[in-house]
Amino acid sequence: MILFKHSLVLLFVLLIIGTSSCKSGGSVSDDADDRAAAMLARMTLDEKIGQMSQVFDGFFSDPEQFKQAIRDGRFGSMLNFFGTEKVNEAQRIAVEESRLGIPLLIGRDVIHGYRTIFPIPLGMAASWNPEAVKEAFRISAVEASSQGINWAFAPMIDITWDPRWGRIAEGCGEDPYLASTLAYAMVQGLQGDSLTDPASLAACAKHFAGYGFVEAGRDYNTTYISEPILRNVVLKPFKAAKDAGALTFMSGFTELNGVPTSANEFILKRILRDEWGFEGFVISDWASVPQLVDQGYAYDEKDAAAKGIIAGVDMEMATTTYFENIKSLLDEKKITMEQIDNAVRNVLRVKYKMGLFENPYVDPAAEKKILDPSFLEHARKVARQSTVMLKNENSTLPLSSEKIKSVAVIGPLADSPRDQMGTWSFDGLPENSVTPLKAIRELLGDTRVNFVPGLKYSRDKNKDQFSAALAAAGRSDATLLFIGEEWILSGEGQSRGNIDLPGAQSELLSALAATGKPLVVIVMAGRPLAIGDELNESDALLYAWHGGTMAGPALADLIFGKESPSGKLPVTFVKGEGQIPFYYYRNNTGRPASDDTWTPIDEIPVENPQSSLGYESYHLDYGYTPLLPFGYGLSYTTFTYGNLTLSDDAMSTTGSITVKAGVTNSGAWDADEIVQLYIRDRVGSITRPVKELKGYKRIHIKKGETAVVEFILRAEDLAFFNGTETLTEPGEFDIWIGPDSDTGLHAEFIIE
Ligand code: NOJ
Repeated sequence: MILFKHSLVLLFVLLIIGTSSCKSGGSVSDDADDRAAAMLARMTLDEKIGQMSQVFDGFFSDPEQFKQAIRDGRFGSMLNFFGTEKVNEAQRIAVEESRLGIPLLIGRDVIHGYRTIFPIPLGMAASWNPEAVKEAFRISAVEASSQGINWAFAPMIDITWDPRWGRIAEGCGEDPYLASTLAYAMVQGLQGDSLTDPASLAACAKHFAGYGFVEAGRDYNTTYISEPILRNVVLKPFKAAKDAGALTFMSGFTELNGVPTSANEFILKRILRDEWGFEGFVISDWASVPQLVDQGYAYDEKDAAAKGIIAGVDMEMATTTYFENIKSLLDEKKITMEQIDNAVRNVLRVKYKMGLFENPYVDPAAEKKILDPSFLEHARKVARQSTVMLKNENSTLPLSSEKIKSVAVIGPLADSPRDQMGTWSFDGLPENSVTPLKAIRELLGDTRVNFVPGLKYSRDKNKDQFSAALAAAGRSDATLLFIGEEWILSGEGQSRGNIDLPGAQSELLSALAATGKPLVVIVMAGRPLAIGDELNESDALLYAWHGGTMAGPALADLIFGKESPSGKLPVTFVKGEGQIPFYYYRNNTGRPASDDTWTPIDEIPVENPQSSLGYESYHLDYGYTPLLPFGYGLSYTTFTYGNLTLSDDAMSTTGSITVKAGVTNSGAWDADEIVQLYIRDRVGSITRPVKELKGYKRIHIKKGETAVVEFILRAEDLAFFNGTETLTEPGEFDIWIGPDSDTGLHAEFIIE
C-alpha cells in the first residue's frame, strides 16, 4: 500500500514535471505578490513563524516528529537535506498534508560545483571569464537540483584585501568591478533563464556585508569599513547580484562598524530595501541571530530575535530564537505583526516566483546528468583558464610530450584527490577527481613518469623522502613539483597568520632546484601565498589554486602545451604578511615612494642621519611594490599593445566615449589574452584610487593576428560615493589599456 502510494506520487511528480517545462517563466512569478498576500491572510501566527525558520537535517531525531513538524508548518526551509526520495517525500507532506500546502525551500552550500567540482571561486575569478563562470554555476544548479536542492547559498562575493583570511578562497578577490561582473554571472547561472525551471536554484548573495574585512584576516573578527569603501567597494558585487535578480541575501556573522550585520538596519533596510528595492528575502547566517548576544548587541536570545526581525532578517538559519520568542515579543509589543508579515511575505514571494507551489518535486531521472562528460569538459576548461602562469624563464614551458623522455612528478599535491577539490566541496567525491599524476601518466605512459610525493601532505616536515625525490629528478628530463595547501587550510574558520608554503615544501623545492634540472612548480592553494623565494628558485611557476575535479587534466593540458595559460591574478600577491593590506586601487599618499628613495634595510649605512632615508611611503624591508600586481599573468605567446584611441577626449557627466586598442599576438602560439581597462580620477571631492578597473575582455587571438578591442566607457561608470552622495565629478582622468594593473598604453580625457 505504501509502495503503491509512493509510485502514485511519483507518477504525479512526473506528470507535473512534464507540464512544468511548458510553463512560461513569467506567468507563475508575475502574480507572486498577490498570491503571497492572499496566502498571508490565511495564515496563523504559528504558520508564519514556521516560514521564518530554517532547520538542518538531523534537527529532529525522530523521523515521525520531523514529518509532523512539516505537517504543522513548523519550518519553511531545510538545509543540508537532500536526495531525490527524501526531498520529494518531505515536499509531498508539506504540499499535501500541511494545512496550507506551502512547499519547502531546500538549501545547500553549492559554492563551486555540486558533484562536478569547479576551481574554487577565487580560481574561477582568475579566469576573468563571466560566460564560463555562468556555465559552471548552471552546471552546479543542474546537478544540485537533481537532488532536490532548490536554493544555493552562493554566490559568496565578499571582497577582501587579506590573504590570511581563509574565506578568500570562496570569493572573487579584491576588485569590485571584476567581482561584480562575476557575481552577476554566478546568479544568472544558478537561477537560469526561468526561475520556474526545475533545474534553477534560488541564489543567495552572501555575506551581506563586509565579512571580507575581518581584522587581521582572522575569521569572524570585527570589521570597520568607512561608508565610501563600503559603497564603492564592498557593496558593488552585491548590487550586481541584486540586479541579476538574486532571490535571497544572507546576513553575516560579523559586525559592521559596531552593529552586527544580522541586526543592521542600515544595510538590510536602508540600502538593500529602500535604495536597491530588493524584493527577495534575507536569511541569517548559521546561528548569527543568537550570536548577537555574544557580540554584545543583545541581552539574550529574545532580544536578539527582536533585533534580527526589526533589522529585516526574514528567516533564521539553523537556530530557534525566532521560533521560541516571536509570540512573547509580539505580546510585549517589542515587535509588530507588520514586521512578521513583511518577513513572511518576502519568503512566500520567493516560493511563488520559483513556481514551487506548482512543482516542488524533483524528477528522479534528473540525477543521470550528474558528472555528465560535458560538465567534466567544462570543469577542465575552467580549471585551465583559472591557472595563472607567474614565471616561465627561458620558455621552460610548455614541455613537449613527444620530445621529453621522462618527467619527475613530485610533491604532496600531485596525487591528492581531496585537496584539489578545495574548500566547500561537500558533495564532490575524491574518487571522481583526476589528479595531475593520473593525467600525466595517461598522457606520457607510466614508464616515463617518475613519481615520488616527497612529502605526504602540505604541512609535512618529515624529509625522509627527499633523497628519493632527488633521485627521481636526477633520472628525469624535467621536474614537475606540485605543492601548496591542503584543502582544509582555507575556507571558513581557516585563517592563517603566515601565508607561506607550509611544512618542508620550500626546502623540497630548493633541493630540487639545486639538481639543475628544469623545475616547473605548480602551486595548488586556497589563497595567494607569499612565494617570492620559491618564484626565484623555480624555472616556471603555474598558480593553479584548488582546481576541482578536473584539475589534473587541465594542468597537463597547460604543461604539455595543448593550450597556453591565460588566467590573470584576481588579487595582489604580497611579499609577506607585513604588506597586508595591499590592493592595487589604493589611494596615493602625499609621499608616494620611488626607487630613488627606497633604501633596502640591509643597505642602510650604520649610524646614518635620520633624514637621509627619504621620508616616503614604503617598508624598509619590502619596499613599496607587491610581489605581483593585480591582473598579472603570463602566456606562451606575447601580446603587443598599440593604437590606443579615444572617440573623444572629453565627455559630459552623462556621456560616454569609445576606447579602442589593437592587441597583436606577436608570439608563436594561438592564445587568449585578458585585456584590461583602468582609469584614474586625478582629483576628487574625496581622494580617488591610483587605478580602477573599469572594463576587461578575454579574447582569443591567433599568432600573427591583431584584434581591435573596444570598450564603451560611460561617465556613470566613473561615479563614486564621496561620503554624502554618489556622483560623477567633472575633471581630468587617466586611462590605460593593458595586460595588467601595472602596465599599459596611456591616454587622458576629461569630464566636463
Ligand atoms: C556558515 C557560512 O558562513 C555560510 O556561508 C554558509 O552558507 C552557512 N554556514 C550554511 O552552511
